[in-house]
Formats: sequence, C-alpha cells, structure tokens
Amino acid sequence: MKILAIETSCDETGVCLLTIDGTHPNTSVTVEANELATQIEDHQEYGGVFPSLAKRLHGENLPVLLEKILKTTSTTAISQIPEAKKEIIRGWLKRYPDLPDKLFDIFTTHGLPDINAVSVTVGPGLEPALWVGINVARAIALALDVPVIPINHMEGHLISTLVDDDITDGHSHNLKKIDFPAVALLVSGGHTELIKLEGWQSYEKIGQTRDDAAGEAFDKIGRLLDLPYPAGPHVSTLAQKARDLELESPDAFNLPRPMLGSDDLDFSFSGLKTDAARKIKAEGPLADRERQQFARELEDVIVDILVQKTSRAVKSCNAKDLLVGGGVSANTQLRQRLKTIKKDVSVHLSPLSLAGDNAVMIGLAAGGHYESGVTAESEISADSRLSL
Ligand code: KG4
Ligand code: ZN
Repeated sequence: MKILAIETSCDETGVCLLTIDGTHPNTSVTVEANELATQIEDHQEYGGVFPSLAKRLHGENLPVLLEKILKTTSTTAISQIPEAKKEIIRGWLKRYPDLPDKLFDIFTTHGLPDINAVSVTVGPGLEPALWVGINVARAIALALDVPVIPINHMEGHLISTLVDDDITDGHSHNLKKIDFPAVALLVSGGHTELIKLEGWQSYEKIGQTRDDAAGEAFDKIGRLLDLPYPAGPHVSTLAQKARDLELESPDAFNLPRPMLGSDDLDFSFSGLKTDAARKIKAEGPLADRERQQFARELEDVIVDILVQKTSRAVKSCNAKDLLVGGGVSANTQLRQRLKTIKKDVSVHLSPLSLAGDNAVMIGLAAGGHYESGVTAESEISADSRLSL
C-alpha cells in the first residue's frame, strides 16, 4: 500500500510518501520521499507559535513540498482535473485564493503517485493549521479518487517509536514488534501523557498533565533564561555545559518536583514555572555560569518527574515494552535515564529524526487504519483537542 501523508498541526509542515507492505503491525515500511519545512524562525519573534502565521505558512509550504516529492518519485500523468472536482476543491480552499490553482498546476505538470490513500493529521493541534493540511489532503484524494485517513498526531508520535534510526534511507524496514500490555510516554510541546496499550488502537490514558506539558515547561522557563523558542533543546545544551564543567546548582536554584510523590500517574508543571520565575527574579540578571546551573536544575527536575512517573506506570501495568515519543523525547538526559528504567523492559525511543513533528509518523499510523479508518472526505474535520 502506498500512502501520501501530511502533517500541519503546529509549526512544521511535513509531506511524505511511504510504501507499507504487510498487515499492520507486521509491516515493512519504505520512505520513498520525505520533506519537512520548519517555521521555527518565523515564530521566534512572538516567543511561541502564532496560529494565523502558522496557517499561512503551511499554505505556502505545502505545494512546495508536494512538488519536491512529485519531482523525485514515480507518478502517473493527470491530463485534466474535471471542472466539478475543481469547484469542490476551490470551495474547501476558499481562504487561500492562490492555492487551488497552484495545486492543479502541480498535479497536471508532474502527475500524481499511485497511492491507496492520503493520510493527514486531524488533531490535536492548532485548528487553523490543521485545516490547511486537511483541505490539501482532501484535494489530492479527490483528484485521485482515493480515501483520506484521519490520523491523531499523538498516535503518530507513538508509532514513530517502532522504526529504525535510518528509516528515511529509502530502504525497507520492519516495524519493531512489541508485547502487550505496553506503556507509552508521549511528551511534546502540548502534551505529556502516559498511555497503556492493550493492543493496536486499544489505548487507555493512564496519566496526563493537569496543566502545562513538559515541553511547555522547558519552553516557558527557558524563555525566562532568554533562550529562543522552542527553548527545550537550548536548555538541554546549557545544562550539558554545566555538567561538563561539573557545576552543581546552588540551593537558591532548587526547583520543586511537583506531584513526584503522588500515587497517581499525573503530572503538573505549571508550578515549576511560577517558582522558576520567582527565583530568577530574586537572583537578578543571571551570569552565563548561573544560567547553565539553572538550566541543569530545570532539566534534572523535568527528567526526574518524567522518569519516576513512567517507571511507576511500567510497573503498575506490568509492561514489557516502553515506547517514548514526542519532541521532548529528543532530550538526551531523558533518553539515557529511560533506557535503564527496569532490567526486563525494552525501551523504544523515537529516532531523533522523527522525535519532532513530521509526516512520516502520520503515514506510519495510517498503516493501522487503512482497513477500518477510512472516512468520507466530507466528514473529516479538525479537532484541536482530539484525544488518543
Ligand atoms: O512534538 P513536538 O515537536 O511538537 C508538538 O507536537 O508540540 O514537540 C515540541 C517540544 C517543544 O516544547 C520543544 O522545546 C521540545 O519538544 N523539545 C525538547 C528537546 N527537543 C525538543 N525539550 C527538551 N530537550 C530537547 N532536546
Ligand atoms: Zn508533536
């Protein structure tokens, strides 16, 4: 089966073409082409993602990425798109006056690949951003008379943990096999959740943040340290400098570990920000070395909380496999600490190339929904708070 996948839930525009052989999850996957355009620099002056800018940039990026993919993969010529279909597509994309004709031009110039479906992220995410991807997915699907498979972004992060590091090398790779029940820790800019998997598509949320997500805590507190958006990776780099220099954090920088000892599997990171803001203010402008110490403390605290709750979840579910995905799963400390969580638990981390948002994970997740999850394109809509 061949799938064209689209991701536009936040500030990365992704398009990819995958071939999936076999029946989910006993499949092998070949990434035929993969394109990603990041908007990070465009949002930096706002200190976070600016939704209407994200939407506009997705609308600009999608045809560019699609064209790149069509230029490098085999396609079947499309002589003409019937006027009736063009009208429907124009209706879907009425907020983007140039986009329909750009797409029609790309379709007829390069042809379209022989795909079985188009998969697209429908949530959670920024609603205006999601809609651009959905409408372009519908346009391609209608032009080819293939179905659209709506995908939950978090399922994408979850399934991205089952592929090899070199998944995008153009060769075929088997999806890793896991035993159930398994536990997944999904940590991104908007989500921090622990999921119990009883089987494929049988997901139970057993823990989640009650306020801010772990990535949000990195980003918001990192901003207080004058780090650019998204601050997570910059906090991590500063923290590593403190470790390399063997700089312990002074007591004045000690941050709380909210809910660390609570018996549930929930998280809370918003108090951390309040406390960090107070401490940074009290210390006055921080010198370079103090910023490194503060970053180290922040990273240690967030990683401690994530590791402790995940370890508890693995034990309480008696899980043999732990899956860890989402942007924050790129964090080196978190990866190292989780790898040794428990002797008899296999830990599957998203490859670094797929830890952040991308379209490959959306295509991979679609492999599991092809039989059951095909939806009429008119019924597909964005759901910014979609739950797994
Ligand atoms: O999954 P993702 O790319 O986008 C969302 O779906 O939100 O996650 C983005 C989040 C941001 O908060 C970013 O700061 C964080 O992942 N992040 C990191 C690291 N790399 C990305 N946080 C800590 N350490 C990192 N190395
Ligand atoms: Zn994400």
